[in-house]
Amino acid sequence: MGCTANGAAPSVDKRSFGDPTAFEPFWRKMGDKCKVVIDGGDLMSYFSDVGNVCWFLEPELGDAIRRLHRVVGNAVTEDRHIVVGTGSTQLFQAALYALTTPAGVGPVSVVSSAPYYSSYPEVVDCLRSGLYKWGGDACTFDKDGPFIEVVNSPNNPDGTLRESVVKSGRGNIIYDLAYYWPQYTAITSAADHDIMLFTCSKCTGHAGSRIGWALVKDKEIAKKMTQYITITSIGVSKESQFRTAKIMEVICDGCQNVGSSAESENFFGYARELMSKRWQKLREALEHSECLSLFKYQQERCLFTGELNERLPGRYKYIYIYIYYIYHPLRGWRAKKASRTANNFYEDLISLEEAGRLLEPIPSLLGLAYCAGKRILMESLNDYWRSKGLGTEIN
Ligand SMILES: Cc1ncc(COP(=O)(O)O)c(C=O)c1O
Repeated sequence: MGCTANGAAPSVDKRSFGDPTAFEPFWRKMGDKCKVVIDGGDLMSYFSDVGNVCWFLEPELGDAIRRLHRVVGNAVTEDRHIVVGTGSTQLFQAALYALTTPAGVGPVSVVSSAPYYSSYPEVVDCLRSGLYKWGGDACTFDKDGPFIEVVNSPNNPDGTLRESVVKSGRGNIIYDLAYYWPQYTAITSAADHDIMLFTCSKCTGHAGSRIGWALVKDKEIAKKMTQYITITSIGVSKESQFRTAKIMEVICDGCQNVGSSAESENFFGYARELMSKRWQKLREALEHSECLSLFKYQQERCLFTGELNERLPGRYKYIYIYIYYIYHPLRGWRAKKASRTANNFYEDLISLEEAGRLLEPIPSLLGLAYCAGKRILMESLNDYWRSKGLGTEIN
C-alpha cells in the first residue's frame, strides 16, 4: 500500500473489498472445536515438506484440502499438485507468471468475459509487467498469438456459471472457482481443469487467514507457481495453514454427520440457509421497486446436497448490472466506449451525471439512473442491509 504526501498510510476503502464476515456466528458457535494452540517454539522454520513440489505446504493442510474436495465433490484432486498461496490473489499472479515464463516476444494478453471481477485488470497491470498485460473482455478478444483467459465460475459479479469463450487454440485458462461451493451454487460435477484456484475467503469465510490453494495438473506449472511464491514471499504463513486445516477438518466432520444430532454443525447447510434468507429479504425489499429487480437463476440438482438448489451468489453487484443494462440504450452517445461491461459502471455513472446536466429539460430517467445507482448502490446498500437485519455484506 502506498503513502500519502505527508507520509501517512492511506486508509483503505472497505467498500472496495467484500468482507465475508457473514459466517462468523457459525464459527463462534463451534467454540473450542476450532481452537488451534501454537506455542512460541512452534512453526519457526521456513520449510514444511521439502520433498513436495510446493515445499512450504503443510502436509496437514494438503490432506485437509483433498478431504474437503472429496466430501463436497466440487473438484478433482487426484493427480493434482496443490500449491498454497497468500489468498488466491497471490496464486492468480503465480499462475500468470508460470504461464508466461520464459518470456516470449511481447506481453501475453490476459482476458476474461465481462462483467469480470474488478481486481483482475488491477492485478494484471499493477507492475506493468513485460510478461503479461490486461487484454479486456474475452468475448471481443480477437488477437492472434498466445493469451490467458480467466474463467470465474460462478462469476463475480453476476453469479453466472462460465466456460471459456476465446476460440483460438493458443491460450491457457485459469479457472477461478472461488465461489464453487454449495452455499452459492449447486455442485453439478467435479471441476477437472488444468489450473483451478480456490480460496478460504469465500469457502469458509476466513478471508483474514489469507489462504488460497491451486489444484494444478502439470508439475512444471506447479513448480513455477511455487517459484513465484518463493520469490515474492518465501512461502505462506504456517499459522494460517494450520488454522485453515483445522477449520476444514471441522467442516468435513460436520458434513459427514449430516442427518445425525450434529446436523447443526453442517457448515454448508448453515451457510446456504443464511444466503437463502438474505436473498429472500432482498427480494421482499425490492418487490415493489420499479427500477430495481433481481436476476432469476434456474434450479439445478446439487450432487452434494442431493436437492434442487437455486443459485445464491455471494455478491449483490448483480443489481449494478441490472441498472447498467436497463439504462444502456439511454447513454449511447455519451459513453460509447464504456458500454458493454458492468466494470465500467462507475464511469458510466459519471457520464450519466454529465449527460443529465446537459439534458436538464428531460432529466427524469437519467436522473433516476444516477440517483438510484449512486445513492442506493454505492453508498447506502450496506446500511440498508444492516437496517433490514441482514448483517454486514455477504462478501
Ligand atoms: C472471484 C474472486 N476471486 C478471488 C478473490 C480473492 O480471494 P482471496 O481473498 O483469496 O485473495 C475474490 C475476492 O473477492 C473473488 O471475488
